[in-house]
Amino acid sequence: MSKVTVVGAGNVGATCANVLAHKDIVKEVVLLDIKGDLARGKALDSWQQASIDYYSTYLKGTDDYAETAGSDIVVVTAGIPRKPGMSRDDLIATNANIVNIVTSSIMKYSENPIIIIVSNPLDVMTYAAQSATGLSSDRVFGMAGILDTARYRAFLATALNVSPKDIQAVLMGGHGDTMVPLPRYTTVSGIPVMELIDQETLDAIVQRTKVGGGELVKLMGTSAWYAPGAAAAQMVEAIVKDENRIFPCCARLEGQYGMEDVFLGVPVKLGKNGIEQVIELQLNEDEMALLNTSAEHVRKVMAIYDNLQQKV
Ligand code: NAI
Ligand code: 2OP
Repeated sequence: MSKVTVVGAGNVGATCANVLAHKDIVKEVVLLDIKGDLARGKALDSWQQASIDYYSTYLKGTDDYAETAGSDIVVVTAGIPRKPGMSRDDLIATNANIVNIVTSSIMKYSENPIIIIVSNPLDVMTYAAQSATGLSSDRVFGMAGILDTARYRAFLATALNVSPKDIQAVLMGGHGDTMVPLPRYTTVSGIPVMELIDQETLDAIVQRTKVGGGELVKLMGTSAWYAPGAAAAQMVEAIVKDENRIFPCCARLEGQYGMEDVFLGVPVKLGKNGIEQVIELQLNEDEMALLNTSAEHVRKVMAIYDNLQQKV
């Protein structure tokens, strides 16, 4: 049974820890935050829920990295979320510093963990974490695609009046407004979505998905947490249970899709070693052009991160 650490006991981190405990698949979840009492309080609250919801996963809150020793998987949600009017990229200076400190501290106590990044700007924070830890790229990757796809699936389920369970979809690219939902790879219980919906409605859903995070920031004054926390927990589950599930995740590309050294959302197979395989789709010219545009945007933000590092 595995030990999982979730760093950041805010909205997303606490939700992830709580959803994970409900899955009852790991022995212990350590919830770490610089606000130690917040982490201790939320972990204790979740542990007290165990006898009501019937799980055995023990939750412990802390601000001490020694408590994370021997973690198999670490989910990093530490950092500031965006406020209305901000893009994810506006968070880079603050969150790069936090992600560097967090991941370096984790490495002092865990030898070869798998690290799932959630902090924004997601693709570049995944780059930061891989640079700071020196872990191989199959062990450091980011959560965004499951969330973005879930939004797309939710909008389609509403429009088609079907269960979201029956909608399968692939979405690629960076976690930002240049993300690339792929209608050609979207089915409803095996039926191509284009046979069930008109182009205008589908285009509107694709557009709404791209700005889906911003829609929630406008409504709540901060970013979402239920679906993001559950998405990160689903990635942990795939690894702990060695499920070889296929999810869109942010991964370092090393030649796939003709790209090198860029962190981008692509379909991957997740199992006990982390990313077991990056899956290469046969994208058409238009889809590839959208993916290239998204990659160019991520590269620009990666360059901002590199410049920030030179000043440190
Ligand atoms: P939040 O403000 O509720 O929680 C963040 C927590 O991080 C706070 O409790 C804070 O004390 C903690 N923290 C800050 N610096 C720390 C450090 N050095 N060490 C340990 N803990 C530290 O924010 P929320 O809503 O949980 O979002 C967290 C991050 O996740 C944000 O950057 C947000 O943009 C990102 N996010 C990413 C998503 C994705 O799809 N990848 C989806 C939703 C949020
Ligand atoms: C989201 O998409 C802000 O990345 C966060 O909800």
